[in-house]
Amino acid sequence: MDFTLTEEHKMIRDAARDFAQTELLPGVIERDENQSFPQEQIKKLGELGFLGMMVDPKYGGAGMDTISYVLAMEEISKVDASCSVAMSVNNSLVCWGLETFGTEEQKEKYLKPLASGEIIGAFCLSEPEAGSDATSQRTTAINKGDHYIINGTKNWITNGNSATIYLVIAQTDIEKGHKGINAFIVEKGMDGFVVGPKENKLGIRGSDTHSIMFTDVKVPKYNRIGEEGFGFKFAMKTLSGGRIGIASQALGIASGAYELSLQYSKQRKAFGKEINQHQAIAFKLADMATEIEAARLLCLKSAWEKDNGLNYDLSGAMAKVFASEVAMKTTVEAVQIHGGNGFVKEYHVERLMRDAKITQIYEGTSEIQKIIISRSILK
Ligand code: CAA
Repeated sequence: MDFTLTEEHKMIRDAARDFAQTELLPGVIERDENQSFPQEQIKKLGELGFLGMMVDPKYGGAGMDTISYVLAMEEISKVDASCSVAMSVNNSLVCWGLETFGTEEQKEKYLKPLASGEIIGAFCLSEPEAGSDATSQRTTAINKGDHYIINGTKNWITNGNSATIYLVIAQTDIEKGHKGINAFIVEKGMDGFVVGPKENKLGIRGSDTHSIMFTDVKVPKYNRIGEEGFGFKFAMKTLSGGRIGIASQALGIASGAYELSLQYSKQRKAFGKEINQHQAIAFKLADMATEIEAARLLCLKSAWEKDNGLNYDLSGAMAKVFASEVAMKTTVEAVQIHGGNGFVKEYHVERLMRDAKITQIYEGTSEIQKIIISRSILK
């Protein structure tokens, strides 16, 4: 077993690290404070090929593997998790879903601009009453022959206002349960499509989270993804890969907080020595480093399985639940190591602590991951 990164992987990781330090770090505190979406930064990320990382170059992507995606997600998330969630949704949920299940026409029309970063996309599954219980969709898509009519509301949609293309999951035939659910490509300008108010959030405040309302939105049949009734499986398969992205985001939040803590522990003196010379701090750093390494290995293993055509549902759920718990624990400890300064915005760790929480909630809560894991090991 070879754990060494290739030269190409190292280059991608370093490019993401440079980008995060030079383009994201300046202004990250203000964007968090003002809840402003990193529009310009996302555009530059697209120019670097980071918005369609795994998409075939013939569809405008960068043709990289999932390992590269994990490495880049970690580096971007160390500095700005609001930016990395936009990156993750576009790569894992929107581009991957379209490349894997879209028709040639859909790929030409929608995937190309999404993968090249010209536009970004959103994934609309969650509803006021259907977040974890994804089969209980209330949004309807009534089949009218050559088109569908969509009505309903989606909640907590990442890239809600900034996106141009929305992948929307809706119920066509309630009698058929999950087999009556479809997935559609919806364009922002379609009649009856309305972006609702922006959520005022605890963390990832620069991320653009909105509800979306659909009133008699007419979507052509050729915008349906896959066969009639494939929508639920489309969502499940897409979310499986998405969990590798969010696990990597959690990993990055944790490693960002750890690196800041390590650095701080060398600068700050108490009782006549650097605080890392006190075991109380040194042991916290040791725990952080160990748990982060374990989270990183889980993320990379899941990515490796995906790159090698193996099933990654289990490893992705394990990576996500573990990395998000590590992110929460590490960031709380990072604030503690920083003492009073940890409570102050300019030291960054309080933001990372607030950002960490969402990684235990979106793309399936920790409890959902444990359902997936326990079902897999018990079957
Ligand atoms: N791949 C393929 N098929 C799958 C699958 C997968 N990973 N998981 C389930 N399925 C299939 C099953 O095989 C089954 O098909 P058959 O009936 O043909 O056998 C069908 O889907 C139904 O599966 P279940 O009976 O397991 O469904 P369930 O109702 O028990 O739910 C669940 C399973 C895992 C809890 C699922 O509802 C789930 O993942 N919920 C969480 C949804 C989620 O992650 N929401 C987050 C919103 S998106 C987001 O957060 C994005 C963002 O903005 C950041």
